[in-house]
Amino acid sequence: MTKFEEKKFNIPALKGISVKNIEEHLKLYAGYVKNANSIIEKSPEYMKYADKEDPFASYVVGELGRRFSFEYNGIRNHEAYFSSFEGGPKQLADKSPLKKAIEKDFSSFEEFLKMFKSMAATTRGIGWAVLWYDRKEKCLLPTWVDEQHLGLLNDCAMILSLDMWKHSYVADYAPSGKKQYIEDFFANLNWEVVEKRFKNIQ
Ligand SMILES: [Fe+2]
Repeated sequence: MTKFEEKKFNIPALKGISVKNIEEHLKLYAGYVKNANSIIEKSPEYMKYADKEDPFASYVVGELGRRFSFEYNGIRNHEAYFSSFEGGPKQLADKSPLKKAIEKDFSSFEEFLKMFKSMAATTRGIGWAVLWYDRKEKCLLPTWVDEQHLGLLNDCAMILSLDMWKHSYVADYAPSGKKQYIEDFFANLNWEVVEKRFKNIQ
């Protein structure tokens, strides 16, 4: 039976985002790992009850299946987010394939950043600002993902993920400091990690 492992991240001191906030945030990540494993472990047991024509058991089975993508994507979104800080802040090299792809799809790197930050800051609700790579069309697609799982793009690879749930920033920033959190995320971002992800899915 599949068991998801909780990954460890080597996160350096960050601009604006406190060690305490990262520690608390990592506990939430661990919760997604635990819950995804629990669903995998418990589902067969509950399915037995559903087979006995217990109408309420079928609700339990249905809800476990429905909510699995919430827990699973909570793992993957956070792994992409935390690993983006590893190695400390690094710029995207001008000659890098990712920078060229961004310039092709968004006219300039600066325009892309402006648009991505605006999407993250102004989209109402809880979720993630994500940059995807569509391998079929060979293009980059920035979208908002509600919660952890609503709005994922099938068969696209996650290149960049920015957690916009309030738990990721309210301990260090007032709710009105959301824009500064986004600025600090990019100031802390190791673009080489993002570049590596992009290269690996080509
Ligand atoms: Fe989070």
